[in-house]
Amino acid sequence: MISRIFIDIAVACGISTFLALVLVIAQRYLADYGICKVTINKKKEVSVQGGISLLGALSDQQIFLPSACGGRGSCGTCKCQLTSGGGPVLPTEKPFLSAKELGDGIRLSCQVKVKGDIEIQIEESIFNIRRYRTKVIDIVDYTYDIKGITFQLIDPQRIDFKAGQYVQLESQPYGKVKQKAVRAYSISSKPQDNGLIQLIIRLVPEGICTTWVHNHLKVGDEVFLTGPYGDFYIRDTEADMIFVAGGSGKAPIKSMLEYLQVVGTKRKMTYFFGARTCKDLYLTDEMKAFEKVFPDFKYEPVVSQPCPEEGWEGKLGYIMPYFPEAIRDPKNTEAYLCGSPGMLAAVQKALVELGVPQAKIYFDSFG
Ligand SMILES: Cc1cc2nc3c(=O)[nH]c(=O)nc-3n(C[C@H](O)[C@H](O)[C@H](O)COP(=O)(O)OP(=O)(O)OC[C@H]3O[C@@H](n4cnc5c(N)ncnc54)[C@H](O)[C@@H]3O)c2cc1C
Ligand code: FES
Repeated sequence: MISRIFIDIAVACGISTFLALVLVIAQRYLADYGICKVTINKKKEVSVQGGISLLGALSDQQIFLPSACGGRGSCGTCKCQLTSGGGPVLPTEKPFLSAKELGDGIRLSCQVKVKGDIEIQIEESIFNIRRYRTKVIDIVDYTYDIKGITFQLIDPQRIDFKAGQYVQLESQPYGKVKQKAVRAYSISSKPQDNGLIQLIIRLVPEGICTTWVHNHLKVGDEVFLTGPYGDFYIRDTEADMIFVAGGSGKAPIKSMLEYLQVVGTKRKMTYFFGARTCKDLYLTDEMKAFEKVFPDFKYEPVVSQPCPEEGWEGKLGYIMPYFPEAIRDPKNTEAYLCGSPGMLAAVQKALVELGVPQAKIYFDSFG
């Protein structure tokens, strides 16, 4: 009797799996949504291929929405307001959308499949985002797992961006990786050098894009970048500034400091860089050199677990305990943070407890 029940359950599971597969295959190969119309900001119309994501369809039209994870539905940056069409909100979108955003028709454009005409609202600044053909002109090893890469812009030859913003890099297929990948990287060069882009890229073990960059990319290679993206940039005020970074999070802060060197500033600035061991420190002399450039600037590398043989004599442990001595007026302090989500959460908590207003804490999370 019991074995009969098991057989029935197995048959039912088999049939539903088969039907689900048929549905997926039919959706993939038989459903033809043809050419669909996307109306942007009530004034611009583009014809796109139906059946693909809204993010991809717009990208084919050279309209680039931010998409830090390359369309995998894991970053939540590809938000876009749909005023008509687009179908129901998917479970994959919900974790990234607040109740207000859901009410306002905000969707993750990488999850919305174009199956008919759609109307969307996007910021005008999106139209300034371009796709750049570039050539790699320099690759430097900063540490055992961090490289600095310089790209010369070929077409278009100039980029207009704010220090702190990021680009998206397209990696090529290699080895067992059969598809291109798109990932976000903060620009580490200054906006005034607008004919090139420098990135600082840390190797993520098993990471698709960073493995390509570290093991396959060579000087002379052609690479496509899109950008600029993001709202992580220096606010034009007189407030004191705290910069905090770890790992490759140094990239946008380097761009900000080099930008400020050109335009000049008298603002009080302290830059904390957190590293695990001395082997994770890099560009230290370059950052220290800013102490001679700006009237009130301090670079503070802090090492949490230095090896005894490294003879580290600088600041030790986590960076947060050192904040009080750097913050003279919390209400008049802006913080610019960049690094892993875990570090950002801990640093934000510490800053808010010290009285720095949450609204003055700006960050880019690399997670
Ligand atoms: C706005 C923004 C700016 C960024 N700027 C930079 C930058 O300047 N320099 C830089 O090196 N990276 C930066 N990143 C991270 C970058 O976009 C990629 O996520 C990272 O390089 C990993 O890509 P991958 O294809 O090699 O790994 P994937 O193939 O995407 O991931 C492989 C595995 O590693 C995990 N993983 C993904 N990213 C990380 C990470 N950062 N640390 C640890 N584990 C990870 C994934 O969960 C997955 O399990 C930025 C991210 C954002 C959102
Ligand atoms: S591109 Fe990352 S969630 Fe859509």
